[in-house]
Amino acid sequence: MKKIGIASDHAGFQLKEYLIGWLGAKGYEVYDYGCPSEESCDYPDFAHALASAVESGEVDGGVAMCGTGNGISMSLNKHQGVRAALCWTPEISALAKQHNNANICVVPARFIDHDEATAILSAYFEAEFEGGRHQRRVEKIPVQVEK
Ligand code: RB5
Repeated sequence: MKKIGIASDHAGFQLKEYLIGWLGAKGYEVYDYGCPSEESCDYPDFAHALASAVESGEVDGGVAMCGTGNGISMSLNKHQGVRAALCWTPEISALAKQHNNANICVVPARFIDHDEATAILSAYFEAEFEGGRHQRRVEKIPVQVEK
């Protein structure tokens, strides 16, 4: 993963800005899909922009946050090609990649500090999808639309 998209609402804005710097220092190309400030806003607006970028391949994966991580996860996961995982420990983020091949790592900005957030993201980026039985399960996640 080289090109990483990032998105938040106002509750995650400060953490998003911190992580843009952290990811850039790690060598990732970071694409910011908003929000642009701490002014109150609606997380779906920025979730859908990031999710579309992941689905189209404009970015290789994503990082997202809102206060709890729930609202932005719910919005991201409306997109068939997105597997957004809400992660609050490094073990959970590693498993989100190893077992679920999560393509967006979501963190709860109001419940973790900057060091916890970078530990969660480091574990996520270092982990690898294990495939095998997990591949079969991941393939069953998208809703099958009958034509
Ligand atoms: C914003 O106050 C808050 O509701 C939002 O960041 C998020 O936690 C929603 O799921």
